[in-house]
Amino acid sequence: MESVWKEVRNDKKYPTLKGTVRADILVIGGGMAGILCARRLTEEGKRVVLLESERIGTGITAKTTAVLTAQHDLLYTDMIRRFNEQTAKAYLDANLDAVRTFKALSEEIPCDFEERPSVQFMVSNPSCLEKEVQVVQKLGFAAKMTEPPWFLESTAAVEYPGMAQFHPLKFLFGAAKDLQIYENSRVLKLDGTVAYAQQGKVEAQQVIVATHFPFINRHGFYFMKLYQSRSYVLALENAPELDVTVAELEGDGIYLRRYQNLLLLGGGDHRTGKKGGGFDFLRDYAKSYFPRAKEKFAWANQDCMSLDGLPYVGAYSPHTPDVYVATGFNAWGMTNAMVAAKVLADRICGRENPLAEALRPDRTVLRKQLLCNIGATVSDFAIPTIKRCPHLGCALRWNPQEHSWDCPCHGSRFDEDGKLLDTPAQKNADL
Ligand code: FES
Repeated sequence: MESVWKEVRNDKKYPTLKGTVRADILVIGGGMAGILCARRLTEEGKRVVLLESERIGTGITAKTTAVLTAQHDLLYTDMIRRFNEQTAKAYLDANLDAVRTFKALSEEIPCDFEERPSVQFMVSNPSCLEKEVQVVQKLGFAAKMTEPPWFLESTAAVEYPGMAQFHPLKFLFGAAKDLQIYENSRVLKLDGTVAYAQQGKVEAQQVIVATHFPFINRHGFYFMKLYQSRSYVLALENAPELDVTVAELEGDGIYLRRYQNLLLLGGGDHRTGKKGGGFDFLRDYAKSYFPRAKEKFAWANQDCMSLDGLPYVGAYSPHTPDVYVATGFNAWGMTNAMVAAKVLADRICGRENPLAEALRPDRTVLRKQLLCNIGATVSDFAIPTIKRCPHLGCALRWNPQEHSWDCPCHGSRFDEDGKLLDTPAQKNADL
């Protein structure tokens, strides 16, 4: 089940790391966050090397719906309550700036960039949306109440004008073109700022871990403060036109965008390894809302969720000097990847960034969510079965819709023979 984006192949093949290579900055991970970090720091005059375990753009970036928006659910009302107005404004401005930066780059990188207002709707509780609009307007952006698309049953919707959508792989391959990249070079060990792969090593001054789920367990405790969520997408022919991008804030939690003659319908989300809607839900939804539509592509994606709605960007841990991380983008991976690249470039180049403090990975995450996440891990760890995850030993669950063994603790996935599909596990499962 390949995504619609995967029809675009990267003609450029990068070598495998062999011998010793020296760099100012090593970036680990060739998805959107890694490529953007590498590109930005190269532009700053740093000698940057990027290591990718497979081929660039074969992970989460290939499965996103590639919506570029600063409209991240009802985050701004929530951020003011939990942080302050200044932090909410910094997050909003950074994400708006990310959309503008993608737009500027799309002039040199052909990537089907199209401006599209982003719309989020609710079937009930319009007062939440009205409040969010007021908050965002006060922060200086012209969000407004609007009518949702005609085919959705909804009472209220909020529109952010000037947002966008694009082709993530066309962009990624173009953005990566002049970078020093090694593919098929999985990092097996990080010793300080020296990374060892199968046939070589990189001696760097500083390291950025941009591997979706951070792979070093000894430091940072990301296995306690992240979990992964699965989301499903159908690409439908013969479905209604759509000149906005859409997300539902409650209920079915569906999301929509158009790509060429296809309507991309997403939803059916659930914590990886747990039960949830999946493809069955989406197919039922498509049947009732778009009865004439024909399914052309179907794929699933996996999001890294932080416990307080904000990404973790900054020092990997207090005990790993010169190692940084970018993760926990909470389903808003495109703009947050751009934000992370800016925050980390500022940090590495000694500049202040108004978001750096709020995104610090060692911030106090909400106690209740932290306890829930730890509790879920402990209860799965205790399940008696021989099918165990090689990451930290939790019990694997069979996923009948995707024919995979999934780990509910942190979201590693394996095929029927135990071959690793999704990290944070670093090796195959012994099934
Ligand atoms: Fe951590 Fe399975 S992903 S124990």
